[in-house]
Amino acid sequence: MTSAIPVSQARISAIGTHVPERVLTNRDLERLVETSDEWIVQRTGIHERRIAANDEFTSDLCVKAVENLVERHQVRLADIDFVIVSTATPDAPFPSVASQVHHRLGLSRTAGAIDISAACAGFVHGLNMANALITSEQCRKVLVIGAETLSKITDYTDRTTCILFGDAAGAVLVEHDSKEPSFIRSVSTTDGSAGIHLYCSGIADRIGGKPILRNGKLVQNGREVFKIAVHTLVREIPPLLAEEGLTPGDLDLFVPHSANIRIIEAVCSRIGIPMEKVLFSATRYGNTSSASIPLALKDGMDAGKLKRGDLVLLSGFGGGFVHTSTLIRWTI
Ligand code: UT7
Repeated sequence: MTSAIPVSQARISAIGTHVPERVLTNRDLERLVETSDEWIVQRTGIHERRIAANDEFTSDLCVKAVENLVERHQVRLADIDFVIVSTATPDAPFPSVASQVHHRLGLSRTAGAIDISAACAGFVHGLNMANALITSEQCRKVLVIGAETLSKITDYTDRTTCILFGDAAGAVLVEHDSKEPSFIRSVSTTDGSAGIHLYCSGIADRIGGKPILRNGKLVQNGREVFKIAVHTLVREIPPLLAEEGLTPGDLDLFVPHSANIRIIEAVCSRIGIPMEKVLFSATRYGNTSSASIPLALKDGMDAGKLKRGDLVLLSGFGGGFVHTSTLIRWTI
């Protein structure tokens, strides 16, 4: 699906994030599995990640991220009319995290709440859905939250995955604004045949007809995911920009899902985006799936790298295999 959004009436107006207190460094991981700080840094760009406490769950991180957003931007929550939470690690299959966040924030009874499942692409999908709800005049203010407690589904005896993932939440407010809309154009792609390469088992014993490991933990064929991610972004980004008469050189910033710095380097070198234009959150937080893009945006803003008016490309990609790239104008 590719869509121009010439009449977007939605503006991203506020952002907040939260990470758990506990830091898990590469040196800590050396004591758990056969690995080294050097290997992890060189292969992934990750130095440390945050890990939720035993009694801390995705909904807790969501609430704190929204509290941070409120504190930073003095936002009123009373008139929010929809909450979208992207997560692969909900507190429970149901009720949704969004419904629990709705309750704990004391939102209006008439506000909708929904979780979406699109792994590491979920936050960008959520933004697009918020834009659609607002531009179609069904809503005026939508909270979009990307949040994960991936440590709960990480196998800390598997060195190929446990060095990658971390816990975090990021929230943005999208609101009606026809004068300064954020959303320009988007493309989404799906390849369900690659689902077997990155999964966490649930109630079924197979994916795409193939038997899977049923331990309730994240399982990944890293090399395959790496190749699919690079191939997909290199194929999809230039045409998306070309539809707007742009080239990668016109972007002020590129904010891909922070999975692995080498995936991003490979994409940037192939399509011609200098690495100085990339915002990457995994150095300090690891791969936080749905939360990685809002973390990168907020830290980028606070560091003065991301400024109002910047032309920014967000690219989410991950388990499914799903991908969404959305071109926006930064409006905070
Ligand atoms: O967010 C969702 C999307 N996920 C991703 O985008 C992840 C994509 N994949 C990756 O990031 C990378 O594939 C990994 C970081 C997971 C692995 O890096 P790689 O360069 O693809 O390594 P590899 O799987 O090709 O393994 C190279 C070697 C292997 O040893 P042999 O077979 O060459 O002897 C592995 O056993 O590195 C070994 N290895 C490790 N060594 C030290 C694998 N994990 C580790 C480790 N420490 N933690």
